[in-house]
Amino acid sequence: MTVRAPRLPYAVRLPNMGKHCYPPPLTPVPVPEFRALLSGCSRSGNSAHLYVHFPFCTTICTFCVLHKYQLTPTSPVYDYFEALKRELRALSELPLVRKLRFTNVYFGGGTPSVTEDPILGEIMDVVTSGFHLDRPQITFEGHIGSLTREKMRFVRGLGINRISAGVQTWDPQLRRMLNLQPSETDIYRCVEEARNVGFDDFNVDIMYNLPGQTLAVLERDLLKTVSLNPSGVDVYETVITRKTGLSRQVTRDESLAENDAERLAESYLLSEGVLSANGFRQRNVHVWDRPGYENRLVGQQDLMRDQDLSLIGAGLSAYSFVNGMPFINVTSIRSYIERVMQSAHGVEAYHRPTRAEEMQRFMTLSLETIDFDRASFAGLFGCAMEEVFGPQIESFRRRGLLEQTEGGYRLTSLGRAWASTMTMEFFGKKVLQDFIRTRLAPATAPGYMSDVTHEEMFEFVVFALFHPEIMIKEAPDLPLLRGYVLYLIKTNPHWLRKVTAMALRSARRFGLPPVGWYARSAARLAREAIISNVSAVEGCS
Ligand SMILES: C[S@@+](CC[C@H](N)C(=O)[O-])C[C@H]1O[C@@H](n2cnc3c(N)ncnc32)[C@H](O)[C@@H]1O
Ligand code: SF4
Repeated sequence: MTVRAPRLPYAVRLPNMGKHCYPPPLTPVPVPEFRALLSGCSRSGNSAHLYVHFPFCTTICTFCVLHKYQLTPTSPVYDYFEALKRELRALSELPLVRKLRFTNVYFGGGTPSVTEDPILGEIMDVVTSGFHLDRPQITFEGHIGSLTREKMRFVRGLGINRISAGVQTWDPQLRRMLNLQPSETDIYRCVEEARNVGFDDFNVDIMYNLPGQTLAVLERDLLKTVSLNPSGVDVYETVITRKTGLSRQVTRDESLAENDAERLAESYLLSEGVLSANGFRQRNVHVWDRPGYENRLVGQQDLMRDQDLSLIGAGLSAYSFVNGMPFINVTSIRSYIERVMQSAHGVEAYHRPTRAEEMQRFMTLSLETIDFDRASFAGLFGCAMEEVFGPQIESFRRRGLLEQTEGGYRLTSLGRAWASTMTMEFFGKKVLQDFIRTRLAPATAPGYMSDVTHEEMFEFVVFALFHPEIMIKEAPDLPLLRGYVLYLIKTNPHWLRKVTAMALRSARRFGLPPVGWYARSAARLAREAIISNVSAVEGCS
């Protein structure tokens, strides 16, 4: 299949601002306050999802950004699961949670499939006895290596009815680089045994834009994945976060990571093409289901967007969403165990969003779900979507990212390929500038930029060059910019070559940077400098 991204709406891709900003800056929440907040009723009806986090993995994949720990003989497995059961019981007793009906339970991680059977049985007992389950979809995430026939038969007996496992890529060389130890034969065996023990609903994750994954390799990956006949496929764009092994690999060998925005869009469109040609239905920007199956978490995302669904999370790093407020649990295993043992809850912080933030959240979730529903927006906020986000909608339409539908707007295929970069345009100047400031802040702390992606470090520079109207708006803070560039030079010897290559490639495909904007800004800055100089002089006299 040949695909060509028609044109570039942005010079480079940026990571999803929504992920960085939501939950937005959080306020610590003492446990009594958390309990008080969950003592009333849910204003969003009584439908809910339950997420339970299993943080252990037998091996660590070099790309993985999730909150996980390698399982060793000294891992605090017993203490973690005692704490998890305690937290689940405490959550299930909260008055608001008692009124909820859970249509979806998700055991995620980490790798739930490395958990021993007796522990899984105990967790399931706590869930089924404490929470009101309403014909739920119960998903169990696993790693091909630990999804043995025995494990799958056991969890099937517990009432689990869906499995989700990461294949990521089939290419042997890439698999070695990512430390994915199961072979192609293991993958086929796993899916076949899952079917034999009654799991028709078997979902597979794959990744695109892996270092060195050409379009031809990606197409093979997609076709082999389709040949498994999975119930659904999640296709994730690779994010190389600096604290991962993969980031160290690509820093050693820059040729591995090419920040090519056009290739990225083509990879995305190739995934869409192969999956839809093989009978999969697109459910959100990165999730496809085979007819007859549904990833319920994603299938009900519009209920979350409309605040008609609560999400309750248990375990380290788990996230809850109740009455429009996000709550987040502590992320380190030691503090999670301590906190739950002291107070029965793992919650650390929350946020009470303003009306403007709720609207931004609606729009960024609509980018995820592909559709922008005008009636839902008006129902929730009492005004038209265009009154608040008119300029963005207009600009997206002009750039071919969004099209009008009967009920509102829908992302075009170009928009779906660029949805994550589009999020930043909904946040407004202040959020954007604060965000950039945290990214550009001088590199003083040892863990500085550990959560920044490999691409982001370079993309910011190129993005700012081509999109000053979005990215800079006002004069950039020069000392910050200087610190950032010095940091790039220190941590990456090839930075100049890389930034120049990216800028040239963007200029070839996108046109020259807006020189006029810089000229006008320089003139304005010069004017301001003169005026402030004059006032300083006048102040002296
Ligand atoms: C909870 S994880 C994996 C579950 C399970 N432990 C496994 O290995 O199959 C869910 C998915 O997130 C995706 N993922 C993890 N890190 C990623 C990254 N850095 N970039 C893109 N996708 C990532 C992978 O596709 C992974 O399968
Ligand atoms: S991808 Fe899965 S198995 Fe690999 S490290 Fe992440 S959570 Fe663990």
